[in-house]
Amino acid sequence: MENGELTIENVGNDFLGLKKIYLSPPHMSGNELNYVKKVFESNYIAPLGEYVDKFEESVKSYTGTKNALAVINATSALHLALRVLGINSGDKVLVSTFTFIGGVSPVLYQGAEPVFIDADEYWQMDVNLLEEALKKEKPKAVILAHLYGQLGKIDDIVYLCKKYGAYLIEDAAESLGAFYKGKHSGIFGDFGVFSFNGNKILTTSGGGMLVSNNEEWIKEAKFLSTQAKEDFPWYEHETYGYNYRMSNVLAAIGVGQMEVIEKRVKRKRGIFELYRENLSDIAEFMPEIEHSRGNRWLTTLLFKDKEPLKVMEVLYKNNIESRPLWKPMHMQPLFSNAKSYVNGKSEKYFNKGLCLPSGTAMSDDDVRRVCDIIRNF
Ligand SMILES: Cc1ncc(COP(=O)(O)O)c(C=O)c1O
Repeated sequence: MENGELTIENVGNDFLGLKKIYLSPPHMSGNELNYVKKVFESNYIAPLGEYVDKFEESVKSYTGTKNALAVINATSALHLALRVLGINSGDKVLVSTFTFIGGVSPVLYQGAEPVFIDADEYWQMDVNLLEEALKKEKPKAVILAHLYGQLGKIDDIVYLCKKYGAYLIEDAAESLGAFYKGKHSGIFGDFGVFSFNGNKILTTSGGGMLVSNNEEWIKEAKFLSTQAKEDFPWYEHETYGYNYRMSNVLAAIGVGQMEVIEKRVKRKRGIFELYRENLSDIAEFMPEIEHSRGNRWLTTLLFKDKEPLKVMEVLYKNNIESRPLWKPMHMQPLFSNAKSYVNGKSEKYFNKGLCLPSGTAMSDDDVRRVCDIIRNF
């Protein structure tokens, strides 16, 4: 751990004398508090303010997108993208089935129909199933999750979306810091969304960013994110919007966090390598596609013989947090009547897999302790 860093591990979580190891807790760089103080000194704790602009600028320069809009979370960013693209009731949207509900529920907010697409050998959206669904379903858009901070066959997916005339929205909530052929995740499609939720590689406690190279779309999203107020001296509304903009206080945290993104990716990848060295004979790890650098947000693996829920229980008894892989959307009761294109892969990953603690403030000894407990039970 570096000097002056505030981490949950530092604030004393003893349980049976064992230090608590969380799955992916916040990890401040040390500068966030200075920036938050500046916000307080300026009294611009609301509305908006210069740190919102700075945070957007830092995401633009790091990812290479032309336009960015800071909002309250990635779910709202995705909602804005669908609204700007005019996706409504009667429209179909193809969505990765192997993902978190926040990447899907905005489709329901718009009254549109999600159709689920299974994963491939890289745990990302399967391109053959995608093409089959694009042909049959004629969707208006595809929401592609870059799961656990990795990219899949993105060139093929971009090509297929163009060929079949579907918008591509990248759910890059988990993949800040992930690149493919030198290009950052979230900027291959029409829109991208990033999450700064508490468990992500960087956090503003809660927060999100909508990005696009299309300036008009981001302008429209900004208008909708601040209650769709027309340009009048009084509040005049021709349509309805949302209260989705990020506060200056949280953006100040984001500016401090963006300064250490590369350091955080390096540590996440180091933690992954350590787990792999120690556990590769008993588990398979999520592969990384050629020409890419994932962020290894969470180290995820599939056990060869061990029962993941039993491993989770043993870790829990040792004050260590772990979590099953995302339960695929097509297996959720909520979507029991939804259409899906499946091949059994995400179901297998869910049944055999586990996310291991991957906080960037973990020491190598912490990682080895987790490995020893898993091996010895
Ligand atoms: C793949 C994915 N999509 C969407 C979200 C929603 O992000 P947020 O919590 O910022 O709304 C998350 C995580 O929280 C996620 O992991």
